[in-house]
Amino acid sequence: MVAAKYIVGNWKLHGSVQENAVRFAALKAGCQPGDTLAVCVPFPYLAQAQQALQGSAIGWGAQNVSEHAKGAFTGEVSAAMLADFGCGCVIVGHSERRSLYGEDDATVARKAQAVAEAGMMPIVCVGETLSERECGDTAQVVTRQLAAVLADASEELKRGLVVAYEPVWAIGSGRAASEEDVREVHALLRGQLEQAGVIGARLLYGGSVKASNAGTLLNVVNVDGALVGGASLDAEEFLAIAQAARA
Ligand code: 13P
Repeated sequence: MVAAKYIVGNWKLHGSVQENAVRFAALKAGCQPGDTLAVCVPFPYLAQAQQALQGSAIGWGAQNVSEHAKGAFTGEVSAAMLADFGCGCVIVGHSERRSLYGEDDATVARKAQAVAEAGMMPIVCVGETLSERECGDTAQVVTRQLAAVLADASEELKRGLVVAYEPVWAIGSGRAASEEDVREVHALLRGQLEQAGVIGARLLYGGSVKASNAGTLLNVVNVDGALVGGASLDAEEFLAIAQAARA
């Protein structure tokens, strides 16, 4: 049996209690048996996600986590706290965290480890910038980013790892990567994962995924799902992506 494609929404810095309530209700109503959907919401809305999505098959999680377990780290949220709360997944190393908040490969690796150790699924993002692509450095950048995570990966991390290839130039640009680009990078990442003994990890594609291109992108070999930003804020559009994943 082919595993269902995993469709994850990254709400980024969007939402309000009122807005979320409408979106959660629509997702719950529209989710079909066999769909594997999840949404990663801002920290203050985790409680709302937990409550609203109770009894549904829709998973929910966070967009970031502290690399530290506890201590004097004002403003941080630990993996154990998220797990305690019932989070199923956490996005780690999103390009916005890397570029705007200075997260380097080593930090991302420690965060992924912390998430896995707490029993949640880390969704580790990798991807090249436009200038890196233009310099022909795509393969080198994404393999370096993934290698850092695989370097000292525990068995838990290897078992639960999800990798999202998100070319930075495709995020929020309306210009998704081509099938060829996705096929090439996903094959590379798959090979790297297998070489490290990570078999069966899910590989997601992210970057301007919408209902109109989801079918094509999700059909590419080694694409096991999508990480969706902007389009995940529109429940109808997100559910249409889920439908494309089913087709
Ligand atoms: P968009 O789908 O808005 O391009 O964002 C992708 C993304 O960053 C998901 O993490």
